[in-house]
Formats: sequence, C-alpha cells, structure tokens
Amino acid sequence: MKVITVRDYNELSAKAGQLITDLIRSKPDCTLGLATGGTPLGTYQYLVERYRAGDITLKDVQTFNLDEYCELPRCHPQSYYRFMHDNLFQHVDLQAENMHIPCTEGGDPQSQCDSYNTLLNSTTVDLQLLGIGSNGHIGFCEPGTPFTRETFLTRLSDKTRQDNQRFFNSLEEVPTTAITMGIKNILQARSILLIASGRGKAECVAQMINGPITEQVPASALRQHPNVTVILDQDAAALL
Ligand code: GLP
Repeated sequence: MKVITVRDYNELSAKAGQLITDLIRSKPDCTLGLATGGTPLGTYQYLVERYRAGDITLKDVQTFNLDEYCELPRCHPQSYYRFMHDNLFQHVDLQAENMHIPCTEGGDPQSQCDSYNTLLNSTTVDLQLLGIGSNGHIGFCEPGTPFTRETFLTRLSDKTRQDNQRFFNSLEEVPTTAITMGIKNILQARSILLIASGRGKAECVAQMINGPITEQVPASALRQHPNVTVILDQDAAALL
C-alpha cells in the first residue's frame, strides 16, 4: 500500500484527478470503478476541468459504480445515479452505454445483484476509486462483510446512516439498504486508489493501514491487494 499525504483537500483532489487523467491518456478505453460520497467531488471536478481543457476524452471509457441506495428512484436527488450525472457524467463525453450503476428500481434485488455482478465479471476494472466510511466501510461493504463477497444487497449500519444523514432532511429519509460491489469485486481491480480527507477519517485510516486485517474493518482487505495507492490530507493522516 503506497500512502501519499498532501496538505489539504484541494491537493488531494488534484493528485487523485491527475492519476486518473494519466490512466485515461495512456489507455483511452480504460475501465474505471467509481465512488460517490463527498470525498470524490473535487476529483470529479478536476476531471471535468481537464476534459474542458481538451486534455482528455472519455468517449471510450467504461465506468462501473460501486453501489446504489435501494428505496430511492434514480431521479431522487440523493440517488447515486443522480450524483454521478450531476457531478461527472453530464459534463464529459462519456457514452451512456458505457456508464454502469447498480439498478435498484423495481425488480428483484437478488437478480439485480446477479446481473450487475455478471456485467462486472465480464470486464477488468483498471482503476477502482474508493472513499472510506468512518467505520472503515468501502462501497457499502459494512464491518463484518466477508472478504469473499461479490455484489450483494447490504443493510446499512446505524453509523453509516448517521454519517450520510447530512445529505437528507432527516435520518428517517436515509435508505436502510443498498446494492454494493462486494470486497471480492473491489479486489479484482488492477489498481485501487483510495482517498480520505478530514479528521473524521483519521481513526479508520489508521486502522486500515496499521490495524489487523479483519472483516471488522473492511478497508483493511485492501492490504491484500498488490497495487493500492492511498491519498490522504493531513487531517486524515493525523493518527499515522
Ligand atoms: C458512502 C459511500 C462510500 C463512501 C462513503 C464515505 O457510504 N457508499 O463509497 O466512501 O460514503 O463518504 P464521504 O466521502 O462522504 O465521507
């Protein structure tokens, strides 16, 4: 695990965005695994700026998102489908057929998990972007998730729902379930880039890097992968 500490969120976003830009320039038809949450916003902004400057095109890039809330229609302002369109997809030349996000609308959740998993297994993600939950979750793989898990229907922990309440009007509005890539899917990527910012992430980051490799800290599974880069701002690195 290569750990890079930068001064602040802006530097973190530029560094992560530069790494993704480098990949897209060297492999224009690469497959990206994408994350949601507050942390990647600056990285997506950076990519949009590089696209507008004519430095990159995403017309042959494929994307696979980590997860999607159940209980929200895709048009809901807090669905990850909307998040990706609002913050990245609508601003670049990515082709609609190349954007993949788990579908949780209608249908049977198990077959939705199975079809997303089949799609994922038909490709190899070149770079998987990740944030980290304050309880050490990645995607929506909560503490206790077996490392062997593939795409599944997950129940969100109380901690995760409280953390994500800031995006909703009340705790009751935060979904209780989601479809997420499993840890096994995440570890199949050729490379992984995890970004974390702020003092609220310092404990989980320290556990991920220096604690035991345990299902209680899902992000600790990343230490079993040969090509992981972690970019932290100084606050997130405070306990290293
Ligand atoms: C959600 C997402 C994760 C993300 C986490 C942290 O739970 N499913 O992929 O890493 O939030 O989000 P934030 O970056 O807002 O702290």
